[in-house]
Amino acid sequence: MDIKQLMKELTTEEKIGQLLQLAPFHFIKDIEMEVAGHVSPLSLNQDKIFLAGSVLGIGHASEMISVQEKYLKKSRHKIPLMFMADIIHGYETIFPVPLALSCTWHESLIEKVARISAVEAQTAGIHVTFSPMADLVRDPRWGRVVESFGEDPYLQKVFARAMVNGYQNNDISKVGHVAACVKHFAAYGLSEAGRDYNTVDLSRSSLQNNFLSGYQAAIEAGAKMIMTAFNVIDGVPATINKYLLRDVLRKQWHFDGVTISDYDSLHQVIDHGCAENDEQAALKGIEAGLDIEMASTCYINHLTKHVKHDPTIEILLNQAVERVLILKKDLGLFDNPYKGADVKQEKCIVRAIEHLEFAQKVAEESVVLLKNDQTLPIENKKIALIGPYATSKETNGPWSWHGNNDFNLSLEEAFIKAGSEIIYVNPSHDPKTYDEHDCLMLRQADVIVAAVGETTKQSGEAHSRSQIELPFGQEKLITFAKTLGQKVVTVLYNGRPLILENIQTSDAIVETWFTGSMGNQAIVDILTGKVNPSGKLTMSFPRNVGQIPIYYNHLNTGRPKIEGIDNEFVSYYLDVSNQSLYPFGYGLSYSTFDYKNLRLSATRMTETETITASIDIINKSDRGGYEIIQLYLRDYVAGISRPVMELKGFKKVWIKAFSKETITFDITKDMLGYKDENGMDIYEQGRFKLMIGKHAEAVISMDFDFIKE
Ligand code: GLC
Repeated sequence: MDIKQLMKELTTEEKIGQLLQLAPFHFIKDIEMEVAGHVSPLSLNQDKIFLAGSVLGIGHASEMISVQEKYLKKSRHKIPLMFMADIIHGYETIFPVPLALSCTWHESLIEKVARISAVEAQTAGIHVTFSPMADLVRDPRWGRVVESFGEDPYLQKVFARAMVNGYQNNDISKVGHVAACVKHFAAYGLSEAGRDYNTVDLSRSSLQNNFLSGYQAAIEAGAKMIMTAFNVIDGVPATINKYLLRDVLRKQWHFDGVTISDYDSLHQVIDHGCAENDEQAALKGIEAGLDIEMASTCYINHLTKHVKHDPTIEILLNQAVERVLILKKDLGLFDNPYKGADVKQEKCIVRAIEHLEFAQKVAEESVVLLKNDQTLPIENKKIALIGPYATSKETNGPWSWHGNNDFNLSLEEAFIKAGSEIIYVNPSHDPKTYDEHDCLMLRQADVIVAAVGETTKQSGEAHSRSQIELPFGQEKLITFAKTLGQKVVTVLYNGRPLILENIQTSDAIVETWFTGSMGNQAIVDILTGKVNPSGKLTMSFPRNVGQIPIYYNHLNTGRPKIEGIDNEFVSYYLDVSNQSLYPFGYGLSYSTFDYKNLRLSATRMTETETITASIDIINKSDRGGYEIIQLYLRDYVAGISRPVMELKGFKKVWIKAFSKETITFDITKDMLGYKDENGMDIYEQGRFKLMIGKHAEAVISMDFDFIKE
């Protein structure tokens, strides 16, 4: 397809139509019949519907084929619709939620999650996925932390890159490959007070040094699209923000792909108070560099006027439309508008057994063992199962549109399938419903497993919580269970770090998040010892809500609190420590790993040299297991205050029983810099602290000097 020639033949209205994306209810069934019913809220007539360039969401191959067929019959230039959807952690084979995926610390595993997701989604004719979500998060009250990779800039890069590579697989024209749309640009995760869609306010320095890393990594990995966030940056809505969409995206990162708004976020510029009406929003959007408008009609209803009035707007319009048409060409849609959609393939690829088996492996590596007082694993024990997740199948979590929880096993079913002896099951979370008989049965168990947590609807978009203890008073169930005298294992199903101070009477605590289609099979394999847990936290667990935001890579302040030193006038609370309950990078294993003998190949390095850090990891236990060894650095003195520690690398290593592995990290110049307000890398000589450890609050350190000659 000759895009330049096609552009010459398109009318202004046809060009603008390519920037319109409509929600699924415009296309799911017969277009004519649906148009009258659903379009009235968007004041769209049928002619404009058939100018649309892309569709948000589609159910199956048959629907996609019928929509595309009906659409192309009316399209003057036969420009195919591009189908996009939220394939965030799986299509019908549902993998653990992204926050859980990040706890695997396993880049190639997450790349394969995206690969399988793309293969399954493509059978429905989906061409673009609105993933990875690369919003760095620091506030567990925000419902969407469940979709994130946690609080660390380095991990954002690693996992955003892995997902883009998995979805696109270096060639989006191929069947089974989808284009990645990284989101939400930018810093949506900093929504004030964790309240969704709330104001975001941060310095350019923090934006550049902490919050842009994941989006940038996705772009550098070749992501074809980026979605703007609902929030403001510097007071300007991200959807019409020239600094983000032109200065950072085009000039600083040389991105030549497509930008898309979030759902209705161009129209919402009016609510932000930055446009009088849709007509003004349309002008601000195209001037800022917004290409596709999702699920609102500012462009389709008003851009023509602006083009007629100002020739520069036509230039901007042409640039936007060309980017969209080039993406459609790169996807191979002009050659095959039905690319990927295949009713037969759908039946044999989607939820294929090898996909489900892999989903179980991923779930096993995403579970984090938070506490274990000689209780787990529970092998050959009589088990009593209590709490809502004893019998619930709801392990898919938010943003699992095409997944079906009914296909999942409950924890009870998974235990039974694994051959465990379950002597009692009660899904009630209310101790008052447990009578004498219940207590008698519970007392006969060797161990009580309390399966509790949040519902799917308490996590995800528009589901922020101001208090983040276990909901519905489930803490009382655990307290009650402990009064019966047995060991109590608390298994958590949730989409955010919770306040767990009041369930510390549990003998063991297992954080499983929402683990997807095969979650409970994975959880049972861990609880019974068949699998050694290895997940580590990528988001700090606060002791109480008052500590939020709490994150490991904080600045030192001018009055740091030094644990153990009694000084009143320092940065601390009267009523709680500064430390998290469970820190970034924390997670237990059934093995015991000792870190010893840290040494450096040198204690000074120039810009062209490297230092190799080595450390011995000893597995003192009788079973092999994965250990995630973390490398942190601190820049003691710089032009801006630098964090007390920053993750700069990690290695996930299997260490056999009773054996030692020597792990090495090469320290290179690129690990030592920081960014100025314009995103330029700054390298200053001086002393650095190198730390290696099992989590952010358990490190061994040594200093070295970086010399600029
Ligand atoms: C939603 C979300 C975004 C999603 C989009 C399309 O509002 O903010 O993450 O991709 O709409 O469903």
